[in-house]
Amino acid sequence: MEKRELLYEGKAKRLFLTDDENLVISEFKDDLTAFNGEKKSSEAGKGALNNKISTELFKLLEANGIPTHFVKMIDDNHMLHTKVDVILIEVIVRNIATGSLTRNLGIEDGKVLPFTLVEFDYKDDDLGDPKLNDQHCLILELVEHQDELDKLRRMARQVNDVLKPYFAEKGLNLVDFKLEFGKDSSGNIILVDEISPDNCRFWDIESGEKMDKDRFRQGLGGLTVAYEQVLNRILGK
Ligand SMILES: Nc1ncnc2c1ncn2[C@@H]1O[C@H](COP(=O)(O)OP(=O)(O)O)[C@@H](O)[C@H]1O
Ligand SMILES: [Mg+2]
Repeated sequence: MEKRELLYEGKAKRLFLTDDENLVISEFKDDLTAFNGEKKSSEAGKGALNNKISTELFKLLEANGIPTHFVKMIDDNHMLHTKVDVILIEVIVRNIATGSLTRNLGIEDGKVLPFTLVEFDYKDDDLGDPKLNDQHCLILELVEHQDELDKLRRMARQVNDVLKPYFAEKGLNLVDFKLEFGKDSSGNIILVDEISPDNCRFWDIESGEKMDKDRFRQGLGGLTVAYEQVLNRILGK
C-alpha cells in the first residue's frame, strides 16, 4: 500500500491518502498535548506504543463483533485503516468519576459510578470541545437522525462491555475513555481513530497508579514507561 499525500495533520497523528480511495494511513506521532493544546511536549516512542496498543484493542473489538476502521499495522508508527467521514462527536464513556466530571459536577474523584455514563462532546478545538445533548447534535447536523445517536451510545457501551472486564483481568481499572466514530463509504457507522492511553484512563487496581496521559497532564513523569506497561499487560508479558 503506497503512502500518498498528507490529508490532515492533527495533534497526535498524521493522516495520509493511499492508492486506494477507501483506505488511509495514520502515522502515530510522539507529540503530546493537553488542555486543548495549551500544554505541549513529546516523548520518544509514545506514537509506536499507541499504534501497537490500538492495534491489539481494535483486533479484540473486531473479534467481539464491533466494526472498526482497522485493517493492519504497517510498521511501528503506521496503521492502515478504512477512510471515513468522521462524526464530530467525541463519545465519552465513564465507569469511575475523575477529571472534568468531578470538576464540573462536584462528584468525588474516584467514585465508582452507579452505572456507566455515556456523554457527548463536540469535537471542535476552537470551541473547547463543549458538552452536547441529543438536541444539540441534531441542530448542528452532526448526525442525520436520533437513531444514529442511539447507535453511538449502544456501540460505546458494547466497547466498554468488552474492554472493562478485559483490563480488569490484567489488573487495570478502565476509568473512562473517549471514542470517535465515522461513516464508511457504504454509510455504516464504525469505530475509528485510536484507543490508547492518550484517550483512555487506566488505574492500576492494586496501587491506584495512573497509567495514562494524566501522567503528562499532571506532570507525574514516566509516561512511556506506563504506556509500555499497558502494552505488556495486553500482550500478557
Ligand atoms: N478512519 C478515519 N478516516 C478519516 N479520518 C479519521 C479516521 N480515524 C480518525 N480520523 C481523524 O484523523 C485525525 C487523527 O489525528 P489526531 O492527531 O488524533 O487529530 P486531532 O488533533 O483532531 O485529535 C482526527 O481528526 C480523527 O478524527
Ligand atoms: Mg485525536
